[in-house]
Amino acid sequence: MWMTSLVALVLLATSASAATSASPDKVLSNHATILADNSAKLAFSLYQNMAKEKNLENILISPVVVASSLGLVALGGKASTASQVKKILNAAKVKDEQLHSGLAELLSEVSNQKTRNVTWKISNRLYGPSSVTFVEDFVKSSKKHYNCDHSKINFRDKKSAVKSINEWVANTTDGKLLEVTKDVDKTDGAMIINAMFFKPHWDEQFHHKMVDNRGFMVSRGYTVSVQMMHRTGLYGFYEDKTNKLTILSMPLAHKKSTVVIIMPQQVELLERLEKMLTKTQLDKWMGKLQQTPVAVSLPKVSMEVSHNLQKHLGELGLTDAINKSKADLSNISGKKDLYLSGVLHASAMEWDTDGNKIDMSIFSTDQLKNPKLFYADHPFIFLVKDQKTKCILFLGRMVRPKGDKMRDEL
Ligand SMILES: *[C@@H]1O[C@H](CO)[C@@H](O)[C@H](O)[C@H]1NC(C)=O
Ligand SMILES: *[C@@H]1O[C@H](CO)[C@@H](O)[C@H](O)[C@H]1NC(C)=O
Ligand SMILES: *[C@@H]1O[C@H](CO)[C@@H](O)[C@H](O)[C@H]1NC(C)=O
Ligand SMILES: *[C@@H]1O[C@H](CO)[C@@H](O)[C@H](O)[C@H]1NC(C)=O
Repeated sequence: MWMTSLVALVLLATSASAATSASPDKVLSNHATILADNSAKLAFSLYQNMAKEKNLENILISPVVVASSLGLVALGGKASTASQVKKILNAAKVKDEQLHSGLAELLSEVSNQKTRNVTWKISNRLYGPSSVTFVEDFVKSSKKHYNCDHSKINFRDKKSAVKSINEWVANTTDGKLLEVTKDVDKTDGAMIINAMFFKPHWDEQFHHKMVDNRGFMVSRGYTVSVQMMHRTGLYGFYEDKTNKLTILSMPLAHKKSTVVIIMPQQVELLERLEKMLTKTQLDKWMGKLQQTPVAVSLPKVSMEVSHNLQKHLGELGLTDAINKSKADLSNISGKKDLYLSGVLHASAMEWDTDGNKIDMSIFSTDQLKNPKLFYADHPFIFLVKDQKTKCILFLGRMVRPKGDKMRDEL
């Protein structure tokens, strides 16, 4: 009797502490693991689809957040509107409840600021037209699984709708994102908005004084002036000579995730690299990385990028939710009166020097002798890869960092 209650007590204590502070070694559930892998696959197909767009320069998407917005559509959808989501996530066999709890588990694992030591603020909101009535059940479960808020908005008054969306985003990102949309083109649907702020905290910081102004070659004839930060350290590095590109992997604090940069060796359009970019290829490259002394120079800039993913998700198979005459989102409103008119996916990412203090002892050894150069002064592809769940926190490209045009120096 005494033993049983002791065991019960111990169990109670363990589960209580697990609930309050996510234990760093908490094992990911089976369905969350599957969804992590599938969201990484989705990352590349979505990126490829977006990269086809003319005039699109910087790209910045969080595949794991896109997956959770898709989960929200499944939660509000019925019939093919919902089943198409599962198809895109390659999760046709996953039960509804497991889809939602798996996506929720995944996102709370990777965005846990304490265990990850990164700043990642994510806010989600579903805007419905003035006429909509939100079903109580949906409001509750979308908050629970996807931390999504709701509000009605009069899209017909475009100017004030745009203003109030931008104000909400500015507020929720502490001013990091000021304008995510200039217009709303459809006035009768529901809109999902993701607003994020991400700031990597390096496992080994850059020295805040090792920063200067350099040129970033947007193209051969166009250079902008940006701040660059520099440091030498031991990093995962691979020169793919056949494909004329270089890959660098830099761990973030707690080494639970890494920033991976894929850069062509010469200034060129990213199209060539993008054609190669698949999950299989990335895994191959990652397998070839070797700890190497590298002198790294990276732009110290903030990127603010806002995409409307509605069309791209449609092209990946989410055709019903976005089609007014087909969509069935009646689990949101109790009626078949809604469709998905927009998915605004906006993020600010701050590339900065901050990170853990450097172990200086390495400088008195010869481990950093003859470093390779990694000088990121022209367009590159990057991703933030999670080590534990294998999902991709961010995928993007830096083509045109903010900065003034530099005079040609001849
Ligand atoms: C959608 O609504 C139906 C009832 O109309 C319910 O059976 C189903 O569980 C709901 N789906 C979700 C994901 O809440
Ligand atoms: C990361 O850890 C450092 C200390 O190592 C701390 O100063 C910093 O605030 C942490 N950042 C976050 C976002 O947890
Ligand atoms: C931001 O949100 C806070 C808390 O909800 C509110 O008090 C404040 O007025 C908001 N600011 C803006 C600019 O919307
Ligand atoms: C929406 O669905 C209808 C009915 O199937 C179809 O005729 C129409 O082409 C679709 N619209 C778009 C934009 O795909």
